[in-house]
Amino acid sequence: EETGKGKYDHYMLKEINEQADSLSNTLGGRITDDGDVDLEEFPRGTFDDVDHVEFIACGTSYHAALYGAQQLQRTGIRATATIASEYDTATVTEDTLTIAVTQSGETADTISALRAAQDAGAETVAVTNVVGSSAAREADHALYIRAGPEIGVAATKTFSSQVATLTLLAHRLSQDLEQGTAREDNEEFFAELQNLPEYIDEVLETSTAEAVGEKYLDKNSYFFIGRDNEYPVALEGALKFKEITYEHAEGFASGELKHGPLALVTPKSVVFSMFTGENGEKTRKNAEEAHTRGADIVAVTDDADSVHEFADTVLHIPETHPDIAGLLANVQLQLVSYYTADLLDREIDKPRNLAKSVTVE
Ligand code: G6P
Repeated sequence: EETGKGKYDHYMLKEINEQADSLSNTLGGRITDDGDVDLEEFPRGTFDDVDHVEFIACGTSYHAALYGAQQLQRTGIRATATIASEYDTATVTEDTLTIAVTQSGETADTISALRAAQDAGAETVAVTNVVGSSAAREADHALYIRAGPEIGVAATKTFSSQVATLTLLAHRLSQDLEQGTAREDNEEFFAELQNLPEYIDEVLETSTAEAVGEKYLDKNSYFFIGRDNEYPVALEGALKFKEITYEHAEGFASGELKHGPLALVTPKSVVFSMFTGENGEKTRKNAEEAHTRGADIVAVTDDADSVHEFADTVLHIPETHPDIAGLLANVQLQLVSYYTADLLDREIDKPRNLAKSVTVE
């Protein structure tokens, strides 16, 4: 069933479970056998005149944009991600490429920033899910994430497809821009990107997120920490949690915990800590500091043995390239939010005070 809930109680759970298929759709035909990116929207040379790249977005799309900016940096390209309502055109020139990331293509803050960028002379791209949306029509170029319709107000499958699309765009930009260089691990990265749907299925089939949600129902603060790619995922994990459970949740860069947020940590806190990248040792110290203050630590990792000394619970993900592992961790966090909200009997698909697309500034 394309638009019904099918066997699921909520659209959100259906959409979480659709992620292997939606991602296959996002990637389909866009990676060649020898690991090159083939984006029919952007033949080689499309961005030859660009020397500066910036992202604008809101909400979940902003977290995908942050992840995307990191992926551009992997290819030697300087990139920034800005919350659309905070956007300023002071540094825009005719060599600027402004990429608006918006699932609906209708978010007023994002459209308004997109127009400001155009007025200031930037070339623009809309990365969106909705064909013919305002952003797609108004930007110079549209790049579709091909995730299929998303009904739940809280974005899930579209985040994964946005990030995957931005990694493809990063590769194309690296070929066109003077400052761009191929990723050192190009072959491995694209091979693993194509395996991502399979890994997501594995997470969906084996996740213990429901039990984790139940275990920590009596807590009063839920923190999410990570570094590098895990940082946008920490922000996204916390956003999802607060949107649908109405509980207090915050995402932090792991290293920032000690610069303030640690004052909030008590035995009534849970800290979801991600160990998916190459800097796990540092995050481990940050998580241990929270553990010492009585918080329960939930580690998201492919290596449970490495966290058993301080982690109360583990959410397991398959081993893969570190730049992709954040997306697997995100699926686990989506499931924790979903099951926690379900146990609290929240209106999951239509959380109070929120709208799928916000068309006022
Ligand atoms: C609303 C939705 C969020 C979404 C944000 C941006 O706030 O509730 O889930 O991330 O808008 O939407 P967009 O369509 O621009 O990605």
